[in-house]
Amino acid sequence: MIRLKPSVLAPFFMLMMLYGCDGNVAEDKPSVDSANMVNTANVAPSSIDYTSAMQLHQMAGVEINYVAPPPDIYQPTKVPEWAKERDLKSIREHAWRIWGGITERTGQAYPAKSECVAQADLAVWDTWYSEAETFQRETKCEDGQACREFHIPRQTGGTEVLSFNKYSQEFLTWVDQNAFYDESTFIEMNEEMTKNNTPTKDRIIGAIPPDSATMLKPTFWVVKSDEPAMMPYWEGPHLDINGTLNPDRPVVSTWTSFVLFDPTGEADPNKKYPVEILGPNGIEKHMVKPKKVVNAADFYAVPLTQSDVDYIKNGNIFTIGGLAPDQLAPCDLALLVGMHVTTAEFDNWTWQTFWWSPFPEDSNQPTVKPPFTHFNVATAYYFDDAAGNPHIAFNPYLEPPIEGPIFMNPSDHGSHSNCMTCHHAAAYPTPNRSANPGEMLQGAYKATGEITGAEQWFGDRVKTRFMWGMLMEAQMQGKR
Ligand code: HEC
Repeated sequence: MIRLKPSVLAPFFMLMMLYGCDGNVAEDKPSVDSANMVNTANVAPSSIDYTSAMQLHQMAGVEINYVAPPPDIYQPTKVPEWAKERDLKSIREHAWRIWGGITERTGQAYPAKSECVAQADLAVWDTWYSEAETFQRETKCEDGQACREFHIPRQTGGTEVLSFNKYSQEFLTWVDQNAFYDESTFIEMNEEMTKNNTPTKDRIIGAIPPDSATMLKPTFWVVKSDEPAMMPYWEGPHLDINGTLNPDRPVVSTWTSFVLFDPTGEADPNKKYPVEILGPNGIEKHMVKPKKVVNAADFYAVPLTQSDVDYIKNGNIFTIGGLAPDQLAPCDLALLVGMHVTTAEFDNWTWQTFWWSPFPEDSNQPTVKPPFTHFNVATAYYFDDAAGNPHIAFNPYLEPPIEGPIFMNPSDHGSHSNCMTCHHAAAYPTPNRSANPGEMLQGAYKATGEITGAEQWFGDRVKTRFMWGMLMEAQMQGKR
């Protein structure tokens, strides 16, 4: 049933060798703080012990040890009360605590043997499993190598940033044990519910993931490693829509506030630099003075490998932050500028998002260390505020491009949305049942307001417990 591909078997056999056939740990085990490693002892075994095989997985041919965050970042006994009370202060503190935990450094270098000046000391989250590892049991990169699977965020269609999803061990195990990587699981479940006349509100996958099942959408801006570049940033404050030529659709390319990313240390901060900004009637050329000069130390900066560059070039990507894929070379930098973070700590799951800012608003957090202090946060642990108005939480890099007929109500806007609302609308199959990722989501989204689960449009579908990514991966298999 589990579709193990050869590329996945290799690390599995390597691990067998490492641990010896009797399962005892050999002397030369990878040097990683074992207290931080995921504890698989209390994870029920699946048909193949894929879970432990995956602890040592690969990225660009480099072995990566999975590292778990400190367990106390999860506070499942407190979250439901905070959400019920709309206790935004505690909720935001909780979000920062999660951020501090998943951004701790692991001491694992990537790329391990690098010509590049910069070399990432991998953060905890960066040792987690990719989409392909989680849902397709394979790596998608050139020459059987692994790489970072950078692509245009599939839920948006914007072209300024690259992203991918990452999943914790507990999430992968949950997917694995329930065969949620396989479309037939959802087809069978749905048919069963129809046969049994299951009430609409109960048409949801039954398996509940552990509190620490965590999903991420890291998002990157790409720069040359040796040339200064003007980089737009979300002006705010917070999620207020300012500093854009198009307030109705404030996507990155419309932003009017810039920092100068200067890897040379020689650019003049007092000069005006030419930039292209997207206005309502097309591209406008402006001369702009940067609000600040920044460099790689202000970011979690990942040097691209040749296989990353090849992957990006093969990805139907036209420009990323003004650069064409052909202009990219190994050692150019992917700068982390945003991240969605979701945990399964309570029934509705927790939703928080972080975006980079030169002037962070809330950076004095006890467990968060630079450069991760350079972020702002928004949270969605509830749909509406106490007065019944929508509680807005989106990521300026990710949701503003979402608009039009992808929503059930085409006048909704991604820049006026709530994570929880849109994700609680996730159900298999999508309304048009298309297997084509480019169109399968049409008419599927909702931006704001409460979703009870009993809505009539869930009638002949099965809710995927708020997972859009999981249902897209399954529906792409196209058996319908
Ligand atoms: C309008 C709909 C919509 C909104 C609003 C939205 N998302 Fe998503 N999100 C999606 C879709 C669709 C995907 C799956 C696309 C993919 O695989 O990248 C996704 C993917 C994700 C993922 C990767 C895990 C997964 O489902 O595969 C995370 C984590 C996530 N979103 C968190 C958030 C957070 C946090 C917010 C609010 C700040 C948010 N999302 C707002 C539609 C939305």
